[in-house]
Amino acid sequence: MKQDMILILDLGSEENSRLARVIRALGVYSEIHPHDITKDELTALPNVKGIILNHGKNNIVDGKQIFAGDYIKTLGLPVLELSELPCCDDKLSEQLKGFVFGDCKCEANWNMKNFVADQIELVRRQVGDKKVLLALSGGVDSSVVAALLIKAIGEQLHCVHVNHGLMRKGESEQVVEVFRNQLKANLVYVDATDRFLDKLANVADPEQKRKIIGAEFIRVFEEEAEKLGKMDFLAQGTIYPDIVESGTKTAKVVKSHHNVGGLPEDLAFNLVEPLKFLFKDEVRACGVELGLPAEMVYRQPFPGPGLGVRCLGAITRDRLHALREADAILREEFAKNGLQGKVWQYFVAVPDIKSVGVKDGARYMGWPTIIRAVNTVDAMTATIEEIPYALLHHITDRITHEVEGINRVLLDLTPKPIGTIEWE
Ligand code: XMP
Repeated sequence: MKQDMILILDLGSEENSRLARVIRALGVYSEIHPHDITKDELTALPNVKGIILNHGKNNIVDGKQIFAGDYIKTLGLPVLELSELPCCDDKLSEQLKGFVFGDCKCEANWNMKNFVADQIELVRRQVGDKKVLLALSGGVDSSVVAALLIKAIGEQLHCVHVNHGLMRKGESEQVVEVFRNQLKANLVYVDATDRFLDKLANVADPEQKRKIIGAEFIRVFEEEAEKLGKMDFLAQGTIYPDIVESGTKTAKVVKSHHNVGGLPEDLAFNLVEPLKFLFKDEVRACGVELGLPAEMVYRQPFPGPGLGVRCLGAITRDRLHALREADAILREEFAKNGLQGKVWQYFVAVPDIKSVGVKDGARYMGWPTIIRAVNTVDAMTATIEEIPYALLHHITDRITHEVEGINRVLLDLTPKPIGTIEWE
């Protein structure tokens, strides 16, 4: 590993991630570890140049106040104690520069080029000549893992993409185009649309739908993995917030997500997780460094059960098709009008109701489409994006004229809370 590291010890602060990100923004790699890291664990970490004890109010664990080990101050490394971080990142930078570059003499050598080079070397060392399996959903994290592993181990990587029939328009096709045709990956593409939609027929309860999609996903993935023969490793797109939020002793569980499309934890594989020290924006930067297309790298969040949670009530093929087409129009218009990178998440939902409309002088029944466009930092709360009316008129016009079965367009103005982001 080429990169110098500043170690942050979590002594109850809620801002460990922010501190790590500010140090990385200075060009110096930084990792967060629990307060009770042992001397052996600490000294095994490569290139540690300084330690920050990040104190905070969550410093009581199991009824006792927590402390850093006495050995920390005997290591001969510069130590900085922080108890409150300034509110703006610029000030915090300024504050840290003296420590990071002066006391610790770090070099600003943390960048994606070096990160990718290091990970390629580490993965090659870990995997040797063995085989690695990856569930490639087409989401940002699994796509970046795939691109990195293709560079590191080429044909030893076996990707499986399960199309559950609930992807957005063109997404599965793009996975095949980018990974099989352009990057020459070993990619098994499974169109399991019929299996999923048959299982979901007449199921209206949202949790039941999620369970069916999750269980069927694992079944299809396991069947395909079995056909590929023995695999030694399973690659996963675990990223740093997953680890920081659940892994340190003082962190509260911020979010436990029913992550449909995820794999059970007890699968008997060794894991390859090359992104596990990256924050989301760094994962995207890594994807750019690896040459993935922008639409893939800057893809907005998409729930594991896909359009299944937006085709409200029992899913039918015709309504799912209408939803997919309307969603594609919304995405196209947001991209054309500069909203793509600006709005955190936007989509349409189509409820299982019909209302009367008029077409060619005759009355007919059609579904409404609901537009939802929200901004958020952590998906726990969300505010509404104010879409210009002219654009809303244009989108309404396009959806009602181009999408069979839809005769009204509605706009959801509800923040979270009181609404959730998704409708189911
Ligand atoms: P809600 O609707 O809970 O959504 O406000 C918060 C964020 O989570 C996404 N979401 C899901 N993601 N599996 C996922 O992987 C799910 O079942 C699921 N449900 C919601 C949602 O798109 C939003 O970004």
